[in-house]
Amino acid sequence: MVTRVFTVDPLVPRGDLLRAAAEILRNGGLVAFPTETVYGLGADATSAAAVSRIFEAKGRPQDNPLIVHVHSYDAVPPLVAELPARAEVLMYRFWPGPLTLVLKKSRLVTENVSPGLATVGIRMPDHAVALNLIRLSGVPVAAPSANASGRPSPTSASHVLSDLGGKIEAVVDGGPCGIGVESTVLDLTVEPPAILRPGGTTREAVEEVLGDVVLDATVVNAGGPKSPGTKYRHYAPSARVFLVDPGRVPAGGLLRKFAAEFAARGHRVGVLASSEVLAEGGTSRKPTGEWDDQGTAWLDAGSERDLDEVAARLFDNLRRFDDLGADVVLAQVFPETGMGLAIMNRLLKAAEGRVLRSGS
Ligand code: TXA
Ligand code: MG
Repeated sequence: MVTRVFTVDPLVPRGDLLRAAAEILRNGGLVAFPTETVYGLGADATSAAAVSRIFEAKGRPQDNPLIVHVHSYDAVPPLVAELPARAEVLMYRFWPGPLTLVLKKSRLVTENVSPGLATVGIRMPDHAVALNLIRLSGVPVAAPSANASGRPSPTSASHVLSDLGGKIEAVVDGGPCGIGVESTVLDLTVEPPAILRPGGTTREAVEEVLGDVVLDATVVNAGGPKSPGTKYRHYAPSARVFLVDPGRVPAGGLLRKFAAEFAARGHRVGVLASSEVLAEGGTSRKPTGEWDDQGTAWLDAGSERDLDEVAARLFDNLRRFDDLGADVVLAQVFPETGMGLAIMNRLLKAAEGRVLRSGS
């Protein structure tokens, strides 16, 4: 199969191209499209055959449920068995935007969207391409991130094509995604509501509306999986990723020490460091993504004071280490406030929990 590429202006997408893409969705095909978080791989959520092709194309485990994307508030009631008042409050406050609400599902949601579960995750993306594509398709659109299962989520059409080119009918190229990490998944079927996956809507913002919410055990990396997807390896480049937690010692020095140790053992070491660390006197690391004579390559994660920037670049940075051929990646830790919670969740999963500290 040749994957068609529809290139559109993200702010003023061309109607004829979106209609062609919507037609593919209506006919049971797969179309990747940009959202404000990451690219999604869309299929008609009311068609079991279309939805099962998503799992095939991604190599996704069958028990990992999909998010259903809508373009209007009116599209929600038919998808759910009940719509609690607090769900509506959150919808009006945060939609369109990076918040997925887990609610009790109706029979309109085809079984394999959330196999074996009584619930469905729903969100309204904040992106003109996504909203218009869903509207033109006339159906709710099931869409996981448009990466091959286990890989970092795609934040550009080229990421999508490198994972899924030839396996899907089309990708709508609307340029890079703004937020760069996926939506926050909030379970409203439990008391208190639980964040199953931290993401583009911060915990703090949700708590301003709802009061206290809890972080599911899988977010803090322990216990049995509730969001079924969280038990699999995720967000990982080909390299083995290690988080480097400097504690009280300077981050730059510790990154250099571990990078030198791995390089001395013959590894090609990618280092993901903050702009501050890269600018430190004596670090003399060019964030050019080129190999230096020690066998290390440094990429700029973004500023420690601008975690939105770190999030926006995160998955592209992880994929760039693959392109460079790194076999070990050392990633600096970031504070777990605001967007930092989502950033650290993705990095910890990419690292499969491996953390290096001073003294280790
Ligand atoms: O920002 C996003 O959410 C992107 C864009 C494309 O919208 N989508 C995305 O989908 O990240 P995906 O499939 O890669 O991740 C969905 C996450 C998974 O961890 C899944 O287990 C969880 O949401 N999830 C979906 N439906 C659920 C449900 N009914 N109950 C519990 N967890 C659910
Ligand atoms: Mg995903």
